[in-house]
Amino acid sequence: MAPSPRIDALAAASVALAALLLAAPPAFADPAGEPSLPFDALPLAPLLDAVYGPGWREEEEILLTCSDGYAPTVPVSRVLAHHPWLAFARADQPGFTVEKRESGEVKTISLSPFYLVWENLDDATVRQEADYGWPYQLVAVDLIRARERFPKMAPPEGSPPEVMKGFAAFRIHCAKCHELNGEGGSLGPELNAASSPVESRDPAWLRAWIEDPSRIRPNARMPALNPALPDRAAVVDQILAYLGAMARARGAAPDS
Ligand code: HEC
Repeated sequence: MAPSPRIDALAAASVALAALLLAAPPAFADPAGEPSLPFDALPLAPLLDAVYGPGWREEEEILLTCSDGYAPTVPVSRVLAHHPWLAFARADQPGFTVEKRESGEVKTISLSPFYLVWENLDDATVRQEADYGWPYQLVAVDLIRARERFPKMAPPEGSPPEVMKGFAAFRIHCAKCHELNGEGGSLGPELNAASSPVESRDPAWLRAWIEDPSRIRPNARMPALNPALPDRAAVVDQILAYLGAMARARGAAPDS
């Protein structure tokens, strides 16, 4: 009897994984300003190839789930264009931790079990786009299609390109902290289910808030939209178009 194709695939994956362990990761500069750090790490794209086969490259996003409930997503195109690594140990010290300065105090933060880091020492784009997220205490990596995984957050079928771009931008920059129609993160308020900021706030106020909340409320916990983002004003327009479309869709749906 021929060996089952599944066992063959597993054997091939093990060989591929063993090869990945031999890859030497570079040092990484933490976007929060830490000096560059050496990690033991696996390159994420070849790891996903080994585990899922090349089909994952056709998915839309990877959803990264952390043990504290933080759940950012990264477009697959981003993973393919740059070089994320899955770090699992510090190469220079026994503890898998970093020191972070939080309101004047230096705290030791555990990164375990996994920390997603981006090759950035030689890459100006990645160094600027820090809010693509370096999630630590990472426990799961899922491949998703946003419309299937977050059907209530997705705009109506056939929405114009501006709204679809706004949805993608909202997924990257906002959904990790905000729920929309009950889907997303929970650090900030829900942005559509009961009322939408496009209804309750003046458009100029809302734009200024998204660009930099601290200019409106000095103690705002919400961070400014990354100042280094290319086409930042256009991204804000797209997010506003998306929020407007979601508010209109809520009005049109009698049972939600
Ligand atoms: C790191 C978490 C975080 C991210 C990312 C984030 N927000 Fe917020 N947001 C908050 C928090 C927390 C509040 C509550 C006010 C405060 O403390 O800053 C808030 C408040 C708001 C409000 C209500 C403001 C008001 O008083 O009416 C809006 C609207 C909003 N966010 C939109 C967005 C949009 C759009 C994005 C993406 C561009 C975004 N937020 C990204 C955490 C976040």
